[in-house]
Amino acid sequence: MQIKNICCIGAGYVGGPTMAVIALKCPHINVTVVDANPDKIKAWNGPLDELPVYEPGLAEVVKEARGRNLFFSDDISGNIEKAEMIFMAVNTPTKTEGEGAGMAADLGYVEACARDIAKHSKSDKIVIEKSTLPVRTAEKIKEILEENSTEIHFEILSNPEFLAEGTAIQDLFKSDRVLIGGHETESGQKAVQALVDIYTNWIPKEKILTTNVWSSELAKLASNAMLAQRISSINSLSALCEKTGANIDELSKAIGMDHRIGPHFLKASVGFGGSCFQKDILNLVYLCKYYGLEEVADYWHHVIKINDYQKDRFAQKIIDHFGGDLKGKSIAILGWAFKANTDDSRESAAIYVSEKLYNAGANLLIYDPMVSQKSINRDISFYWNISPKLSQDRIRVMNEALKLKEIDGTAILTEWTEFKDLDFGNLVVFDGRNILKESNKIHQIGR
Ligand code: UDX
Ligand code: UDX
Repeated sequence: MQIKNICCIGAGYVGGPTMAVIALKCPHINVTVVDANPDKIKAWNGPLDELPVYEPGLAEVVKEARGRNLFFSDDISGNIEKAEMIFMAVNTPTKTEGEGAGMAADLGYVEACARDIAKHSKSDKIVIEKSTLPVRTAEKIKEILEENSTEIHFEILSNPEFLAEGTAIQDLFKSDRVLIGGHETESGQKAVQALVDIYTNWIPKEKILTTNVWSSELAKLASNAMLAQRISSINSLSALCEKTGANIDELSKAIGMDHRIGPHFLKASVGFGGSCFQKDILNLVYLCKYYGLEEVADYWHHVIKINDYQKDRFAQKIIDHFGGDLKGKSIAILGWAFKANTDDSRESAAIYVSEKLYNAGANLLIYDPMVSQKSINRDISFYWNISPKLSQDRIRVMNEALKLKEIDGTAILTEWTEFKDLDFGNLVVFDGRNILKESNKIHQIGR
């Protein structure tokens, strides 16, 4: 099947960069990204230094492809109708109410997407799950599509995205693997081939892995769970290092040099953040419970519990240093993003550590080179559940590096390189991200 028009629903961190790269590498295909939020579309069509997603290299890709064969549009129905292939890249947050609240993925947006596709389709479509979804979601999507439209054939594929924020463009250019799950029917395999043909424009064939739909859906959850599990494993050992005098960096290095283990994702930290790890593990735990696998569910749940323990332990270390009370103490929070090179702060460790410090009485001065003041204020009211007004007396969000002399201590919560050059003078520094050279004034996780 020759694909001429692709539509992607969802112009977020995944949909935007992924489609920009597909358009760049496939100039013979028109790629249109649509979104329910017209402001986001406006921003994608706006100046290159104000795109709604910050990713190194993204602006260059958009510059080359935008207007040529990459388009951002708020005409959802027209672009669904025109496309032979539709990607669903809407967000799938953890459910906040109803059955599975706090654990299962909220499929409301995905289901709304499927209803939109059914409503506006006038010809056969290949519908691709890009969003991370629980196993067997394709069944539910098929049900919705067929319930609303009987004449048209919808073939559903799973093609999870493995890009990491901050390196998205690099990851998309040189993926470790591209995973495509399809049904083992003739039409299923034809659809798989159509998607394989798109990726072979730049990904070597041996890196494209085709599986059944359920393996593909589960592989995404399992990959994130395994990555997060390595971080929780090393973070759990950092607590033991502090008791025994072992050094966590030396331990990581020694462990990672075993080729059977490898060096990646063994960096002790104040805890992982980001939109995926916690959500996907909770989702996995929910699935295990649903299928009666209590022991398996408990095993994976502990990855989250260690992560919470690590964030809490780090904040407590600061509180203890000041004698158990932070009233009248000013603490600088350096870094709000969940990792360097992104403006994304979803589930960032900084949010949780700051909340605990704030509740212990601290005055907070917060600075991040990329996360806007507006986003920081929004996170505070969303995650802490307090009104920005109430918090204003003791929280200042800064738009430049801090005057460090005015404060009692600093907590480094994102490994931005610009923090490496700061002169901390005699200030006590709590380094959750291990970016500074060892000094007796610096308290690092694991030391
Ligand atoms: C993605 C994945 O899809 C998610 O499953 C994965 O686990 C994390 O990454 P992401 O791209 O990071 O989500 O989400 P976000 O940046 O919030 O973008 C989603 C976009 O979908 C938003 O721009 C939102 O406006 C749009 N949307 C949402 C729609 O267009 N329609 C909807 O019904 C819901
Ligand atoms: C992750 C997966 O890596 C990616 O494949 C998937 O598509 C989405 O989820 P992302 O969340 O963007 O990507 O970033 P990642 O680089 O995995 O970092 C996640 C968190 O783990 C960050 O807070 C990071 O600082 C932390 N981390 C990472 C550590 O604490 N130690 C490490 O050794 C590595």
